[in-house]
Amino acid sequence: MSNEVFPVSPEWAARAIIDEARYKALYEASLRDPDTFWREEAQRIDWIKPFTKVKNVSFDPKNLHIKWFEDGALNVSVNCVDRHLKDRPDQVAIIWEGDDPKNDRKITYRELHAEVCRFANVLKARGVKKGDRVTIYLPMIPEAAYAMLACARIGAVHSVVFAGFSPDSIAGRVVDCDSTVIITADEGLRGGRKIPLKANTDEALKKCPGVTSVITVRHTGGDVAMQAGRDVWYHEEAAKVPADCQPEVMNAEDPLFILYTSGSTGKPKGVLHTSGGYLVYASMTHQYVFDYQDGDIYWCTADVGWVTGHSYIVYGPLANGATTLMFEGVPNYPSTSRFWEVIDKHQVNIFYTAPTALRSLMREGDGPVKKTSRKSLRLLGSVGEPINPEAWLWYHRVVGDGRCPIVDTWWQTETGGILISPLPGAIAQKPGSATLPFFGVKPVVVDTEGKVLEGETSGNLCIADSWPGQMRTVYGDHQRFIDTYFIQYPGMYFTGDGCRRDADGYYWITGRVDDVLNVSGHRLGTAEVESALVAHAKVAEAAVVGYPHDIKGQGIYAYVTLNAGEQPTEELRKELVQWVRKEISPIAAPDLIQFAPGLPKTRSGKIMRRILRKIAEDDFSNLGDTSTLADPTVVGDLVDNRQNKG
Ligand code: PRX
Repeated sequence: MSNEVFPVSPEWAARAIIDEARYKALYEASLRDPDTFWREEAQRIDWIKPFTKVKNVSFDPKNLHIKWFEDGALNVSVNCVDRHLKDRPDQVAIIWEGDDPKNDRKITYRELHAEVCRFANVLKARGVKKGDRVTIYLPMIPEAAYAMLACARIGAVHSVVFAGFSPDSIAGRVVDCDSTVIITADEGLRGGRKIPLKANTDEALKKCPGVTSVITVRHTGGDVAMQAGRDVWYHEEAAKVPADCQPEVMNAEDPLFILYTSGSTGKPKGVLHTSGGYLVYASMTHQYVFDYQDGDIYWCTADVGWVTGHSYIVYGPLANGATTLMFEGVPNYPSTSRFWEVIDKHQVNIFYTAPTALRSLMREGDGPVKKTSRKSLRLLGSVGEPINPEAWLWYHRVVGDGRCPIVDTWWQTETGGILISPLPGAIAQKPGSATLPFFGVKPVVVDTEGKVLEGETSGNLCIADSWPGQMRTVYGDHQRFIDTYFIQYPGMYFTGDGCRRDADGYYWITGRVDDVLNVSGHRLGTAEVESALVAHAKVAEAAVVGYPHDIKGQGIYAYVTLNAGEQPTEELRKELVQWVRKEISPIAAPDLIQFAPGLPKTRSGKIMRRILRKIAEDDFSNLGDTSTLADPTVVGDLVDNRQNKG
C-alpha cells in the first residue's frame, strides 16, 4: 500500500474533457436519474431507429433481465467506420506495427470501409447470415479488426479465440456456440517465432463436425494444408467481391459478440454482449477515461483475443473516430526497448498496458526506457490485474517522466467496459488504487453474509445497478449467468473480486475471492487446469491454486496425486507442464508441481483449498483448523515436501 497522492495537474484540469467539478456533477446525475443521463449519452452513436425506452433491468434472480435502448436500431460497423467517412476519410484509423519492426501499415477510415465491406461480402458468399456465429482465430493483424467489424456489419455474432489457445480449447469454444465458419491465418508471429494457426485449426476441426468453412488469411506465407471444399484463402475470395456492403439493421439488444472467459467451475463460459448498450459504453469510457481528443494517437497493447482488445483496440476507439495502434509483437523483441521505440516511431500520446508487462520490463532497469524519447506521451493506463505501487511508481517516474497521469482501470470481460478508474483531469491518483467509479456505476462492498458495509471497509465487490455495457447472458446457459453473478448477493451483480474502500472512498481491488486465477493478466479457472492434469494417463487427482509471483502477479501451483505404481520423477513433472500447455495453452502451464500422495479433504471429500493456498504461499504458520480433515497427517507431508520456489 502506498499513501502517496498524485493530484490532477492544473494543465490536465484545464485541457481534459472531464474536470473534477464535471465528474462530480455528472456522477451524481447519473445515479439520480439514470434514464435522462443515458438517454443523452446514447446520442454519441448514430441510431438507424431512435430508441424510446432507455433501461429495462431487473437483478431479481427470479426475473432477471437486462435491456438497454431496447427499441432502438443501429449497426455497429456503421458507427465504427461509415460515419467517419464524412469528416475524416483520410485520417488513419489503424496503425499496424508488425512483430518485425520493419513491417508496419496505416489504414485510413476510407480504406477500412472498403476492407470491412469486402470481408463482409466474403462471409456472405460463404453463407453467413444474421445471427450466425463466426469464430475468429487470428493473430494481431488488421484483418482481425476487419473480420470483427464485418461480422457486425452483417449481423453475425463473432467469437474471437485468443491465438495462444490450443486446438482443444478452440474446439470447445467452436462447439459450444455452434459456429460453422472459422477465420484464421496461415501463421502468427510473436517475438520472431511462428505460431501454426491453420494447423491448430485443422487439428481442432477434427472435433468440430459442424464447421463447413475455413477462411484463411495469408500472413507469413508459410506452407499450410488446404482441404478442398472447406478451406479458402481470404485474398482469393476477397478479389471476387465488391468493396461495398449494405449494413444489416440491428436491434440494440441483438448480440454483437461472444467471448469465452474462465470461471471458478467447469468449462469457460460464453459471455454475451449486445449491440447498442455495449457500443455506447465502450465509446464513452474510451473517450472519458483516456481523455481521447481528435488527432491523438492511442495504443492499447492487449490482444484482440481478450475483452480489452474488443473494447479498447477495436470498438471504443473506432466508434470515436480515433487512430488506434495494433501491435503484433511482444515487449521484449527485438529488444526490451520495443514498447518505447514504437511510441517514438508512431508518436503515441496515450498508452495502455498490463502490470505484468511493466514488471517484466522494470526488471531490465531504466536504461532501455531512458534511451528513447517518449515526449509524445501524455497519458498512461493499466489494466488486467492489481498494479503494485512499485510498478505504478516506475511507470509514472521512468516511462512517463513524472509527467503523465496513470489510469488504473478496473473491469472485467463481463462488464464490457471500464467500471472503476481515475478520469485523468478529474481524480487524484493513489498508486495501486483504481480510485472511483465511472458514471452510472454504483460499487457496493459486502461481507460474506451479504451485509452492505459502509465507509472505510473491506469485503467483496458488488455493483448495485446495471450499466449499458453489462453482459446479458452466458451463451446457451442463462441459468449459469444467474447462478454465477446474481444468487450470492440478491439484487446485486457480484464481481468475484475482493476490495478495500479507504477513507476517501477510493477502491483498492485486492484480487479474486473465487477459484479464478489471474496469471500475467490472463484469466484462468483452477478447475480448467485441474481437468487438463487429470486427463493425463498417470494422474489420479489434481488441485490447483495460485501463489504470489513477482512478474506474473500470480503463478500456478499444482498438487498432483499419481495413479498407484507411478513414480514422481523430474521427467514426469516436465511432461505434465508440456501436457497442460498442449491441452489448454502455454499461459496455463503450471509454474510449480508438487507430487502429493494425498490431498487435504474434509470427511465429505471436499478438497480444502484454503490449506493448499497457504502452503503454496509458504505461509505455514496460519494453516487454520485441520482437525476436520479426513486425514490430518497429509498436511504435514505437504508442508515437508513443498516444492522449492527455485
Ligand atoms: O480480478 C480482476 C482483474 O481481472 C479480472 C477480470 O479479468 P478479465 O475478465 O480477463 O478482464 C481483464 C481485462 C479487463 C477482474 O475480476 N482486474 C482487471 N483489471 C484490474 C483487475 N484487478 C485490479 N486492478 C485492475 N485494474
